[in-house]
Amino acid sequence: MDTSQNEYFVIKAMENGVQVIGLTRGQDTRFHHTEKLDKGEIMIAQFTDHTSAVKIRGKAVVMTKFGTVETQE
Ligand code: TRP
Repeated sequence: MDTSQNEYFVIKAMENGVQVIGLTRGQDTRFHHTEKLDKGEIMIAQFTDHTSAVKIRGKAVVMTKFGTVETQE
């Protein structure tokens, strides 16, 4: 397995209805999974053979090995 896929990232929802959208790896880039988080909920995830990017909608804090970032309105 690719080592870039071993890393975990954390998403913490700061409001209800935050969407975590997984985008496909490979030729076409499309949404393949949407997860809804409510305020205070966290999701711990990895990039995989299926997921190469993640889009986050709504107020959330995202922690990666690069540091912590927040979404903005
Ligand atoms: N079944 C998906 C996959 O293995 C689950 C997943 C992994 C996912 N990382 C994600 C979904 C990040 C959304 C965001 O690719």
